[in-house]
Amino acid sequence: MKEYLSLSEASELIGKSKETLRRWDREGKLSAVREPMSNYRVYKREQVETLFADFFSHDVVDTVSNYVEPNNEYNVLELFAGAGGLAVGLEKAGLKCVALNEIDKWACQTLRKNRPNWKVLEGDIKDFDFKKYHNSVDVVTGGFPCQAFSYAGKKLGLADVRGTLFYEFARVVTEVNPPICIGENVRGLLSHDNGKTLQGMISILDEIGYNVVPVQVLKAINYKVPQKRERLILVGVRKDIELKYEYPKPHNKIYNLKDALQKGELYDTNVPKSPGAKYPQSKKEVLDLVPQKGYWRDLPLDIQKEFMGGSFHLGGGKTGIARRIGWDEPCLTLTCSPAQKQTERCHPEETRPFTVREYARIQTFPDDWVFEGSMAQQYKQIGNAVPVNLGTEVGYSIVKFLNQLYSVRK
Ligand SMILES: C[S@@+](CC[C@H](N)C(=O)[O-])C[C@H]1O[C@@H](n2cnc3c(N)ncnc32)[C@H](O)[C@@H]1O
Repeated sequence: MKEYLSLSEASELIGKSKETLRRWDREGKLSAVREPMSNYRVYKREQVETLFADFFSHDVVDTVSNYVEPNNEYNVLELFAGAGGLAVGLEKAGLKCVALNEIDKWACQTLRKNRPNWKVLEGDIKDFDFKKYHNSVDVVTGGFPCQAFSYAGKKLGLADVRGTLFYEFARVVTEVNPPICIGENVRGLLSHDNGKTLQGMISILDEIGYNVVPVQVLKAINYKVPQKRERLILVGVRKDIELKYEYPKPHNKIYNLKDALQKGELYDTNVPKSPGAKYPQSKKEVLDLVPQKGYWRDLPLDIQKEFMGGSFHLGGGKTGIARRIGWDEPCLTLTCSPAQKQTERCHPEETRPFTVREYARIQTFPDDWVFEGSMAQQYKQIGNAVPVNLGTEVGYSIVKFLNQLYSVRK
């Protein structure tokens, strides 16, 4: 295995910024050495891995709980519901889904198959009118796909973004008038169009009568999910309500791949057998050479060059390429297609992508949650989802807010 890591590689592996690593160097917490030819900082891999193991230490007793019981029956309207990751999470927190909207036929079949009593509204959101839910829903949630707004430099209003899916989210919120609404998205929304897209969304929510809580990106590993996925949460509280919404507190116990796939605290059995994608033979031969927690830099130089093609000379650590996950670490973010180029997350011991049920476990779906459609459709639905356990923790934060709201209003 390669003995030294560059600044970018070390930063990506530990999940801390380069600036933090430079500071640690100054403070003596993680000392870099200089590469003699280039004079760049490099880090001893062994030292980085020890620090990494401390971050992901498994022998921690979790002292944090966000659990709270609902005092009433609370209703959710879930938009862009996909295969139900967020919906199941919210349900586990005690919220009741009154209706879900989703355009994808297979995802709708998944929802109906698992919850025949859920009202699944299949089709394009723009074709549905939600006025009949006016004042009867406590929270509107939805992971609207991110789209650029054409921005004329003024404060954005709802009418300016007509035709986008955020417009539809905001339109439904105005039709339903819930006390609280929650949007979820990828971290990239923070920097999308230099932050203007997010600013536009915040100003639109303001215009339709909602104060936006300072936006946070939640790391799934802090919410009982054995995966380094992140979700940006956008919370709007109706302006006539003076209560403060609080994000769920991060847990101190971090789960890893072993917890996802083997019997333990997260699941009381090993992962069930299921079909799974395969790597083409040429990729398998390359990945056979990568050790657990290793990636493309662990390959012989000629193979590195061939495998990486044009990316070989580009900057950045690119530690997610040709990656074999270790049992004792959380998995890297799952994508919608497990054998996709340059985002390989290989099984720790066998040279293959994770199976459908392994994927579902890494996203903390229950084993009995069935996915409909072809194998590719199933992977897509799982890869698109909010991890169920993250959804549950966000659900507790909503329940807490609503309990307080209705106790004040009694
Ligand atoms: C990020 S996924 C949502 C995942 C879901 N929250 C979960 O936890 O499983 C976004 C979803 O929006 C759906 N979608 C995209 N355009 C839509 C539209 N016009 N109307 C309704 N749903 C749409 C996609 O099919 C996709 O399933």
